[in-house]
Amino acid sequence: MTMKLNLLLAAALTLGLAGAALASEEESGTFEPKHPQQQQWVWEGVFGKFDRQQLQRGYQVYKEVCAACHGMHLLSFRNLSQPGGPEFTEAQMKAIAASFQVPTIDDNGEAAQRPGTPADRFPAPYPNEKAARAANGNALPPDLSVIIKARHDGSNYTYSLLTGYTDAPSDFSLLPGLNYNPYFAGHQIAMPAPLVSDGQVTWPEGNPAATKDQMAKDVVAFLTWASEPKLEERKELGVKVMIFLIALSALLYLAYRRLWRDVDH
Ligand code: HEC
Repeated sequence: MTMKLNLLLAAALTLGLAGAALASEEESGTFEPKHPQQQQWVWEGVFGKFDRQQLQRGYQVYKEVCAACHGMHLLSFRNLSQPGGPEFTEAQMKAIAASFQVPTIDDNGEAAQRPGTPADRFPAPYPNEKAARAANGNALPPDLSVIIKARHDGSNYTYSLLTGYTDAPSDFSLLPGLNYNPYFAGHQIAMPAPLVSDGQVTWPEGNPAATKDQMAKDVVAFLTWASEPKLEERKELGVKVMIFLIALSALLYLAYRRLWRDVDH
């Protein structure tokens, strides 16, 4: 009898412990990232295209703000003047390339720097991962070449992340060196808010005011293009295929009518 009671007690205790473990797991899940705000992007939809001016503004935000910590190693300077992208003129693109210093080897075999050329890729801001981590509280700023594809709902997510910094709620224990952002998994991120004041970049005449919101949208446009440089080509081909299929269907229907013309039903 006591044996049975003991077994029952042990079983109850195990169930209780398992329950408590589950409950604590649920608690740690309360810092799930917030669902990103949904924006209407011009490149979405069947006929979507990038806005050249927006891509050019976004490039400038990347260069003047994000490039201090993030590289884009899949992007070459010449891409900036290719069709379907920001379409800078050849001369503008060459000037952009030359404004970056890229690593090279000098005549004595020593590591050196030289101005970029159109064929060069965007240089990384840090010489290696250790240096990158050392400068960022041990967090690694990811390469941004394909970040939009690497995150679920990437454009909306990145926009929300950039504009979503707020003060931490009073009951939130923020670790030293981290910043509160509800769109980031765990709600604390090593990246300090990069877009902090309106007018942080100066765009050429004829562009909208450089508000924080506009800078976030434009840099997201630029990063989206970088993640999928052939987006416009892909969509144009899709439209052509649709037109072709519609024409083919019409033709087949007419052929069907003609072939069965004399058959009695
Ligand atoms: C001072 C350095 C710094 C600057 C400037 C900076 N970042 Fe970051 N960024 C970081 C670090 C560090 C991380 C890694 C954060 C972490 O893992 O906690 C990061 C992470 C990110 C991420 C990935 C978030 C994720 O889901 O993992 C994106 C996207 C990003 N930054 C975009 C940008 C953009 C766009 C700009 C320019 C507007 C920018 N960053 C400017 C340091 C910086």
